[in-house]
Amino acid sequence: MKKDLLSVLDVGGELEKIIDDAIKMKRGEYEKIMEDKVMAMIFEKSSTRTRVSFEVATQKLGGHAIFLSKNDIQLGRGETIKDTAKVLSRYVDVIMYRAYSHENMKELAKHASVPVINGLDNEEHPCQVIADFLTIKEKKGKLRGLKFVYVGDGNNNMAHSYILGSAISGMKIKIVSPKDYWPSSYYIEKAKEMGGEIEIEEMNEYAVKDADVVATDTWVSMGDEAEKEKRIKDFQGYTVSKEVMEKAKSDAIFLHCLPAYYGYEVTEDVAYGKHSVIFDEAENRLWAQMAILKWLFD
Ligand code: CP
Ligand code: NVA
Repeated sequence: MKKDLLSVLDVGGELEKIIDDAIKMKRGEYEKIMEDKVMAMIFEKSSTRTRVSFEVATQKLGGHAIFLSKNDIQLGRGETIKDTAKVLSRYVDVIMYRAYSHENMKELAKHASVPVINGLDNEEHPCQVIADFLTIKEKKGKLRGLKFVYVGDGNNNMAHSYILGSAISGMKIKIVSPKDYWPSSYYIEKAKEMGGEIEIEEMNEYAVKDADVVATDTWVSMGDEAEKEKRIKDFQGYTVSKEVMEKAKSDAIFLHCLPAYYGYEVTEDVAYGKHSVIFDEAENRLWAQMAILKWLFD
């Protein structure tokens, strides 16, 4: 059966193996496992990191990536996802899809005969979380037992994938979010089924106490633009500022998947400050993508 990566759940217990492979690949230990292989990348939304890291990753592994903006292909004019999946499967060896809807992601994977990688949708961002956990392992030497605190929109794609990834890897996770933005029960239940330790609370002075890792993400994800003003109001008090960061462990690291909106979810002094590893995290998208592709083709 073909493998897909639609959710962090799809890598399951192989998460740390993918991370360890990425660490080796970062040291230059990789082979051209994609020789003669082609990846199609469908983007319904903007991207800097996902697009470039997947293109470079494919090239380093000896393959070729084709960028397909939804508006440039017939999908944007009403061709069905089913037919797009069937046609692309006749040409390419893997499809990466950045979508608005997780239902469409599943539909593409259902009808494609080649692996499908979720390059972000409204529910999850699994490739980003693999890169983030690679960054944590690089900086902290382990994942199990660490305390991970995510501050901000607790019901977006990053929060969901962090919740699943933490449960799989044995990190304790706390989501600090206004009540209206607490994670969907599906993710909480899945994490608990896997033995995950998860706390959810509103902002308070102990929010990031004892954190080894503090992470945030935009308050206005792609697709949420119509609610921008409301969200900016709702998230007042949730900015990761120097004062917030000072309450984490003295050697805590700060993560942000980027793009960042300074002065909103994080201040510029934190993003460029001594705890921040955001550009190592961005670089790690590349090494994580290579390890993900290896996982798919092995
Ligand atoms: N973090 C991330 O996925 O960035 P892009 O939107 O630039 O791909
Ligand atoms: N939550 C953000 C992540 C961007 C990489 C979004 O979906 O826009």
